[in-house]
Amino acid sequence: MKHAIYPGSFDPVTYGHIDIIKRAAEMFDDLTVCVLDNKAKTPLFSVDERVKMLRKVSENIPNVHVDSYYGLLMDYARKIDCHIAVRGLRAVTDFEYELQIAHANRTISDGWLDTIFITSSMEFAYLSSSVVKEIASFGGDISLCVPPSIEEEVIGKMRVLHPEFYQNK
Ligand code: PNS
Repeated sequence: MKHAIYPGSFDPVTYGHIDIIKRAAEMFDDLTVCVLDNKAKTPLFSVDERVKMLRKVSENIPNVHVDSYYGLLMDYARKIDCHIAVRGLRAVTDFEYELQIAHANRTISDGWLDTIFITSSMEFAYLSSSVVKEIASFGGDISLCVPPSIEEEVIGKMRVLHPEFYQNK
């Protein structure tokens, strides 16, 4: 059985992530989407909130499971006995970072953990969780970036953090 992990921060999950989830779920018998810490980022949503949102958006894809882990991706991969990580690539700027992390993961896992890349669909090439948060922090429309259930969650946070942009909404 072919099993892969799709790791990420998913803060929050976007249509770009969902595109990768759907396509990876067609390539593998089982796909575990795992919320992991990115030390370079301060999250808007707690891990539990992110897991809940991911479960909601993938509820109709039977071979997708959502989990979270605090630690190295490599240790999680060993724990669930899965040696393939999937990452999305939007542009060449992603590639440099992703290549470094892929090499690091392969090296520190003694060759156990391989990474495969799926190129994002063109329509989502601009999209990231950071872009979503930036737009929403100024009261902008994120309906093209995330499903309605996620939009509601993001707006809920932004109403508290940036009430000045949500006074008449
Ligand atoms: O969605 P992101 O923020 O680009 O995801 C990055 C993530 C969470 C996959 C990456 O930071 C990660 O794997 N973090 C766990 C720690 C780890 O294993 N790092 C790789 C070795 S340097």
